[in-house]
Amino acid sequence: GEIGGGCPVHGSGQMRSLLGRTNRDWWPQALQLEILTERGRSANPYGEGFDYAEAFTRLDHRALKADLVALMTDSQPWWPADYGHYGPFFIRMAWHAAGTYRTGDGRGGANSGQQRFAPLNSWPDNGNLDKARRLLWPIKQKYGRHISWADLFILAGNVAIESMGGPVFGFGGGRADVFEPESVYWGSEDQWVNEGVATRIQPAEGRALENPLAAIQMGLIYVNPEGPQGNPHDPEGMARDMRETFARMAMNDEETVALTAGGHAFGKAHGAKPAESFAGAPESEDLHRMGFGWLVDAQEIAAGHITTSGIEGSWSNNPIRWGGDYFRLLFKYDYALVQSPAGAWQWTPINPDPEDLAPDARDPGKRVPTMMTTADMVLKLDPDYRRISERFRDDQAALDDAFARAWFKLCHRDMGPKIRYLGPDVPAETLIWQDPVPAGTMPSDAEVARFKTAILGSGLPVSALVKAAWASASTYRNSDHRGGANGARVRLEPQRGWAVNDPDELAAVLEAIAAERGELSMADAIVLAGSAAVEQAARDAGHDVTVPFLGGRGDATQAETDAASFEPLEPFADGFRNYLKTKAQVRTEEMLIDRAHLLGLSIPEMTVLVGGMRALGAVSRHAHHGNAIGVLTDRAGVLTPDFFRNLLDMGTVWQPVDDSRDEEYIGRDRATGTEKWRATRTDLVFGANSMLRAQAEVYAEAGNEEKFVHDFIAAWIKVMNADRFDLSYAKYHR
Ligand code: HEM
Repeated sequence: GEIGGGCPVHGSGQMRSLLGRTNRDWWPQALQLEILTERGRSANPYGEGFDYAEAFTRLDHRALKADLVALMTDSQPWWPADYGHYGPFFIRMAWHAAGTYRTGDGRGGANSGQQRFAPLNSWPDNGNLDKARRLLWPIKQKYGRHISWADLFILAGNVAIESMGGPVFGFGGGRADVFEPESVYWGSEDQWVNEGVATRIQPAEGRALENPLAAIQMGLIYVNPEGPQGNPHDPEGMARDMRETFARMAMNDEETVALTAGGHAFGKAHGAKPAESFAGAPESEDLHRMGFGWLVDAQEIAAGHITTSGIEGSWSNNPIRWGGDYFRLLFKYDYALVQSPAGAWQWTPINPDPEDLAPDARDPGKRVPTMMTTADMVLKLDPDYRRISERFRDDQAALDDAFARAWFKLCHRDMGPKIRYLGPDVPAETLIWQDPVPAGTMPSDAEVARFKTAILGSGLPVSALVKAAWASASTYRNSDHRGGANGARVRLEPQRGWAVNDPDELAAVLEAIAAERGELSMADAIVLAGSAAVEQAARDAGHDVTVPFLGGRGDATQAETDAASFEPLEPFADGFRNYLKTKAQVRTEEMLIDRAHLLGLSIPEMTVLVGGMRALGAVSRHAHHGNAIGVLTDRAGVLTPDFFRNLLDMGTVWQPVDDSRDEEYIGRDRATGTEKWRATRTDLVFGANSMLRAQAEVYAEAGNEEKFVHDFIAAWIKVMNADRFDLSYAKYHR
C-alpha cells in the first residue's frame, strides 16, 4: 500500500483486513510454529478450568436421547426431512465427522468437533451438513456444557441408527470441543475435488497415496463416489481407492463393506438440479446467510430439489428402515450407467419390480427407482469385497454384528484408551484396537529407591537409559491418544525393532531393567530408569534435584497388541533424538514441530527437551552411522545448557556437509578452521529461526542454568506421563 497513507481501516480501500500483510504472506516458507501455541487455548470461552469430562458425567442421558429421537421426525420447514426422518442425514454427518481420522498421524476424526470449522465445514463432501448441525442446535443449547458438539454429532448418528431399527454396539462420550480449527495437514493442492484436480493416487507412476492423507482428493472425506477422477468405468481403480482410504482409517475389507452397505441402507443421495445453480460454501457466504452455504430458495428446498453430491436417489426401497434390502437389490439386478439430473454418473437397476421402487423423499405416494454409486457397485464387482457382500446378503445377523462393531470403531478410534470413554452406554467388551493395557500396581517408595540405585549401578550409560525411556513414552500422540509408556509396548513387536530405537542398544537396556526391576512393572521400570539417569545427570551438573515419578503402569502382552496397527506410530523423524529415517518432502525441522505438537508440547518445552537430550547424548545412532550428531558438548551425559551455548557461539562457523542434501552440517572454529561439531537441520534451526533462537538464548544465558534443569525435568515428566489416563480418568468412573 501507500507509505504514510492514512488510516488502514478507513483508507483507500486497498487494505483488505485489519491484519494487513502477515508474516505468512511475506514469508510463505517460514517455519510454522503457531501449531504449538494453539489447541483451543486462546479461543476457548470455557477457559482452562472447564472439565468437560466431568460436565458430561452429569448429563441426563435418557432425556437427551429421547429429545434426539423426537427431533428425528420433527421436520423443519427450512430443511424438511427426507421421508419425514432426519436419521440418515445425521448418520452421514456422524460418518463424515469420524471419517476424517487417519492412522498416519492420528489426526482428524470426531473427537474435537472440527466439522464446525473451516476447511471441513466447507468441503464439497460435507455439502449441506451445515443444515444437519443446525438442526441439532436447539438440543445443544438445551444441554449446554454437558454435551459437546463433538459428542452430539456421534450420539445423533447412533440414536439415528437405533431409531430406524439398526444395530448399535454402544456409545462412549467425552470428546471435548475445540473453538478454532486445528492445524491438520489436509494436503497441498490449491483446488478442491470439483475443480478438476488430479487424483492423489497415480498407479501408473507406481505412487501410493501421500502420507498421512486418507482421502483421494482435497475436499473429500475418502473417495469420489462416481469413480476414480469421476470415471465410472474403472471398478478396479475404484476398489483400489476405497481399500487404500479405508485402510488409512484403520478399516479392513470386511469393515469397509459392512460400513458402506450398512450406511447406505439408509437415506438418499441428492442430485436434483445441475450443480452450477448452487451458491458457495458456508465459509465464503454472505453475512445474512448466517453461516449457511450451498443455498437454494425455500420453494426448491420444500420441493426436495436439492443437490449435494449430484447423485440422485436412495439405495434401498426402505430408506428409513434397517434391513437387508441394500444387498438384496445390489445382487438381484443388473445395473445400467446413467446420469443424474445434476449430471453425475450413477447406476440404475434394469427393469426393477414395482415393489423394489423407493418412496419419493417428499411424496410418499410417488415411487421412484433406487440407485447405486460406482463405489457401491464395487462391493459386488471386486472379488474380495464380493465374497464378503454375499456372506452379508445371506446372513443378516453377521451384517448386523459387523456393522455395529465397525460403526463403533469408526466413531471411537480416535478416543484412545477405553478409560477415556464415558457414560452409561460404554460396552463392557474390550477390543484389540483400543490397545488394552492391564492395570498396574503402585510401587512403594522403598521399591522405587532400590531400583534407582540398582539400575544406576548397572553400568549402562545415562544416554542409553534416557533413550529407552524416551523410546517408550514418546510414541504418545495427542491426536488419537494412542501410544505412550503404559503397557511397555517398546519391548514388543513392532516397536522394539524400529531403527529410531537403536534396537541392539535397546535390547541390552531392557534386559538390564528386567533383571533389576523386582516388583516394578516393566513399563514403570523403563520410565524410572530414564528418570534416574536424568537425576544423575543433573547431579553431575551440580543440581541436587528429584525427578518426580508416577508409578502404576501395567505391562501389555504381544497378544494384546495389534502389531500392524502400531506400525503407523513409527516416527519418520524424531528431532528429539536427532533421527531421520529418510528425507521427506517437508523439511526435517518441520517434522520436529509436528512431533512436538503430537506430544502436546509448547515451544519452550520442545526447546528445552531438544537441548537437554543432546547434552545427555540421547541421540539415535542409527541414522548417522554411529556418530553422536548434535551433541554439542564435551561433557555428554551431564545435564548442562552446553547445546545452546555452543550453538550460539560466534566462534563457530557452520557449513553444510557435501552430499548430505542439507541434512548435516560441520561447525568449524572461525579462527583455525578445525572441525568442532557435527549437527543437523534440527539443531541449527535453534540458531537460525528467529523465534527458536529467542528460546535458545534464554537457556544459554548466564544465571539460567538452574532454570534449564528445572524446565527440562518438567517437560520430561510431561512426556513420561502423557498417557496416564488410567490415573486422570479414574475419578470419572467412581
Ligand atoms: C450418502 C457416498 C460410505 C452413510 C452418501 C452420498 C454419497 C455417498 C455420494 C450422497 C450424499 C448426498 O448427495 O446427499 C459414499 C461412498 C462411501 C460411503 C463413496 C464409501 C466408499 C458411507 C459410510 C456410511 C455412509 C461408511 C455410514 C456408515 C451414508 C448415509 C447417506 C450417505 C446415511 C445418506 C444421507 C442422507 O440421506 O442425507 N454417501 N458413502 N456412507 N452415506 Fe455414504
